[in-house]
Amino acid sequence: MLETLQGHKTNRPPLWMMRQAGRYLPEYHQVRNQAGGFLQACYTPDVATEITLQPLQRFPLDAAIIFSDILVIPDALGIDVQFKKGYGPRVEHVHDAKRRQKLLQTDPAQVIEQLSAVYQAIGQTRGELNADKTLIGFSGAPWTLAAYLFDEGPSKDTPNLRAFAYQEPQQFEELLTHLAQAIAHHLKAQADAGANVLMLFDSWAGLVPPNLINQALLKPYKLIYQQLSDWGIETGQVLFSRNVRGETYTLLDKELPQNVAFGVGHTTNLVQLRQQLPNRVLQGNLDPAVLMTNVDTALAHVDNLLTHMKNNDGTYSNWVFNLGHGIMPQAKPEVVAAVVDRITL
Ligand code: CP3
Repeated sequence: MLETLQGHKTNRPPLWMMRQAGRYLPEYHQVRNQAGGFLQACYTPDVATEITLQPLQRFPLDAAIIFSDILVIPDALGIDVQFKKGYGPRVEHVHDAKRRQKLLQTDPAQVIEQLSAVYQAIGQTRGELNADKTLIGFSGAPWTLAAYLFDEGPSKDTPNLRAFAYQEPQQFEELLTHLAQAIAHHLKAQADAGANVLMLFDSWAGLVPPNLINQALLKPYKLIYQQLSDWGIETGQVLFSRNVRGETYTLLDKELPQNVAFGVGHTTNLVQLRQQLPNRVLQGNLDPAVLMTNVDTALAHVDNLLTHMKNNDGTYSNWVFNLGHGIMPQAKPEVVAAVVDRITL
């Protein structure tokens, strides 16, 4: 994966799968339940390490992604975050100016103390992983984290956040800047602990209207990447600005450092985007629903993707194989195994 991120050609694309550790694996349920809940599992280094490594014990994937969540950032900034089984995450809202003020008065660097268990898990995982496997650390991006602070994540729309952005543009900028600073600290600490790649998840980026792209996406991304660069962080970088339109990809390509690969959701045409951004490393974008079907159906989709992404000389470059979004709890482990074999054998 690192070779591809550095622009080298390889004989097959590197591969990992978003949310590769999780609810489709029976061994995940067992360990999570023993740990006493999802956040407890994230904050117990032995448990987080074990869950991170589970998918690699089953499948010859090229990368592990640390078992954690994007919502550890609001949690570390004193916001109440809960994961109730079957309900998805519940995050304390900051519509209220007083509540928001309290959040803005926190020190963005405090996440490093609050999330020390995550960095410990990264160090432990890096120690147990083979040297040829990449370890990915990650964070939620400012817009997506703000979406959880203003609107229920599962409602997937963000009307409250958009209303706030229009009515209080300065406060909106202040909030996203505060989150961006906390995120930069969290990413740096993960790199320092041993993560080889840092991925920024902006899962709800596709909900940003054109007149907010600059404030909601571009400015916060630039701030984070500038900060990491000022700190001398030299890991690989992936930005998953999910479901943004073609013109936004062009803007991001023009404005962001060349070493940032772009994650691509499955509703985007990857082959077209490859032509649109020939020099950018792309990561994606098999539809995770394909892994809920059967081996033959899934392999037909994988073969199609491989054919379209292959160079004329039979090599692969500027592409990391992945799903277009997180793996579903209904994914079948035997279909995942067949897909991995198709790419690695
Ligand atoms: O293998 C991995 O990728 C594990 C690490 C990981 C998790 N969440 C574990 C998790 C990562 C990278 C994430 C990112 C994440 N979390 C995102 C961005 C990626 C995306 O899918 O868009 C988002 C939006 C979240 C917020 C979140 N966390 C939601 C919406 C949910 C509930 C619904 C769901 O999809 O699971 C979670 C909980 C969560 N995070 C679980 C896991 C394994 C399930 C928790 C459980 O066991 O009950």
